[in-house]
Amino acid sequence: MDPKIKDVLNRSLVLIGSSADPDKTYLEIFGKNGIFTNLAQEIKNIEPQNRAAFGKNLNEAKEQIQSALDKKKLSTLNSQLSTGFIDITAPGRKQKIGHLHLVSQAIEEIVAIFSRLGFSLQSYPEIDWDWYAFDSLNMPKNHPARDDFETFFVKADRNPKYGQQVLTPHTSNGQVREMERVKTPPIRMLNIARCYRRQIDVSHTPMFHQFEGLYIDKNVSIPQLKGTFDFFTTNFFGPKRVTRLRPHHFRFTEPSFEVDVTCGICQGRGCRLCKSGWLELGGAGMVYPNVLKNGGIDPQKYSGFAFGWGIERTIAMKTELPDIRLFYQNDLRFLEQF
Ligand code: FA5
Repeated sequence: MDPKIKDVLNRSLVLIGSSADPDKTYLEIFGKNGIFTNLAQEIKNIEPQNRAAFGKNLNEAKEQIQSALDKKKLSTLNSQLSTGFIDITAPGRKQKIGHLHLVSQAIEEIVAIFSRLGFSLQSYPEIDWDWYAFDSLNMPKNHPARDDFETFFVKADRNPKYGQQVLTPHTSNGQVREMERVKTPPIRMLNIARCYRRQIDVSHTPMFHQFEGLYIDKNVSIPQLKGTFDFFTTNFFGPKRVTRLRPHHFRFTEPSFEVDVTCGICQGRGCRLCKSGWLELGGAGMVYPNVLKNGGIDPQKYSGFAFGWGIERTIAMKTELPDIRLFYQNDLRFLEQF
């Protein structure tokens, strides 16, 4: 046997003989920096013609060490048992079982509600081109509306056709992509994704989720949009909550609205939390003809509505949470409540 292997074998057997903790001794021999591990790495320095014999000796030594370790483990366990050190009848330690994060729970619920209206879930990039996030949505470069989104730009080469890459500030980037995918309406899309904006306070987080609805067909109208919100609201928040549309401005919808839902605490009468009786859910409106054109759809033939709401804010309105930053602090005392 190679003298180096013999030396490591002997040292290992001595270590095992005097060991009080076989698991620790195992690591001293076979661990990342163990004496056997270091020796085994030397095989690459052995002359090629001697390598096979060295490898065979190594294996023999390994088997001897392993069997000495097994014996030591058994004898240590026996002596622990005889001194009553281990109570093998004691119940095991209970493992903590986790559950879905409250945002994931809400996503499942939202998808189920909209699927009953025929909306199917699609998934679009969370790092996307300027074209899909802004330009195709009728938001020209340098338009002040783009400032509202406080976008994160990605340091990467510009695409001559699609512009710069951005972390998507809203799920509306899925609108034109969905039109390109389906080509001929009807379209009933639900797009749920992470969104990113340079914002943080009680009602803003830099990463949040939106769900975006897009319905395009012949003769789509505002009452259908309102009916969709009412269906969602009563199913998600409960039968007593109602919605209202407030005129607003988005570049990609005309007319545009902000959608409010009655406060769950005062049921619309007005209280300390909501003040007016209403809480803002998100934006909506009838798809702007230019956006349909950018998606290859004829605005003379088809019309549509779109809406985009924040999931964290929607959950906060259901559970009366005062600060959405709690969602992402990973504090189990908070997360276990849902
Ligand atoms: C939009 O993002 C539009 N794309 C919505 C839309 C879609 C309008 C389709 C018309 C048609 P807005 O910037 O208002 O709109 O954001 C919509 C919702 O996202 C807000 O009401 C809020 O619920 C949520 N939201 C926005 N920024 C944040 C943030 N930083 N943290 C948490 N939620 C946010």
